[in-house]
Amino acid sequence: MPKLELSRTERHLVDSILEMQVGRPNFFAWGYLVCGGVLAVFAGLNDNTAMAFTAFGLVCGFRIWEERSNSKYAPHWLSLIQKYESMREDLSRGGSSPDTWDAVDRYFNGQLIPSDGVLESALIESAAAGLPSQQVAPNQGKLLMLLAKISHARKILEIGTLGGYSTIWLARGMAEGGTVISLEADPKHAEVARGNVSRAGLAEVVDIRVGDALEALPKLAEENCGPFDLVFIDADKKSNSNYFAWAIKLCKPGSVIVVDNVVRDGTVIDRQSSDPSVQGVRRFTELFAAESRVSGTVIQTVGSKGYDGFAIALMLDK
Ligand SMILES: C[S@@+](CC[C@H](N)C(=O)[O-])C[C@H]1O[C@@H](n2cnc3c(N)ncnc32)[C@H](O)[C@@H]1O
Repeated sequence: MPKLELSRTERHLVDSILEMQVGRPNFFAWGYLVCGGVLAVFAGLNDNTAMAFTAFGLVCGFRIWEERSNSKYAPHWLSLIQKYESMREDLSRGGSSPDTWDAVDRYFNGQLIPSDGVLESALIESAAAGLPSQQVAPNQGKLLMLLAKISHARKILEIGTLGGYSTIWLARGMAEGGTVISLEADPKHAEVARGNVSRAGLAEVVDIRVGDALEALPKLAEENCGPFDLVFIDADKKSNSNYFAWAIKLCKPGSVIVVDNVVRDGTVIDRQSSDPSVQGVRRFTELFAAESRVSGTVIQTVGSKGYDGFAIALMLDK
């Protein structure tokens, strides 16, 4: 099935439905329709539960109406319902489909990450400029912010800026008086990122450097920019082992290094893979495993970004 782009209202609707519908048969919908209508009238449509009941009833009503008419909205609504039904089926089997991971991400993000105009406009501006949608998900961005806060990071290095989405999260987590240096090979990406960072009010504390990171990293060492407290590696995966080696040189005991996208739909375990990114991650993993100056682990993740994972390393006392 092609990926369905849902509006914010539809997403909210699907999330409410999912939350309330797990494991319940469809005939409950009719009860919801009636109860929702009654509750909605008594609650003056202010009560979220009544709204959710009513929403589900409306969807069911739409479905019946659509099936009996030839409205132009029919395919849209039917695919929305199909999506919901496939998620519900998936949940009853244990919840392993990407649609479910996506919905669960939206559920938690809806609860824990308040809507943020600056970050949302960074995504809109990046998409409008034609940048690929390769930024971290909101919950991953927040994790970066939390890691920056937990490690009291003042000097942060990012390798791979794109439109500056993760850069903004990192900068928001850094300690007073800190700076983020972010390395980006593509001048267009860097330009968009500068705009986004500036709109976030962070232009003074974020330094976006254009050029191949493998050339920029030795310069950072020459300029004595380190030691960095936190390094986030998220550029071309084939060079991950080189970036990791540089991160270690530019860090100190207590520094944290995060390497994104190390699971790659599980293909990381394919030693025969012809994908340079997979081989890059495997070279990184060997180096990571052999490096006695760090203690680290890898966490697999599923969510709106599919099946992937990240490595996290702590620099040890020498
Ligand atoms: C996955 S995106 C970064 C996403 C960003 N960290 C975020 O979450 O918002 C990878 C970025 O690395 C950049 N890149 C790729 N190869 C690079 C290199 N050799 N040096 C510096 N940047 C590079 C790409 O142009 C792209 O913008």
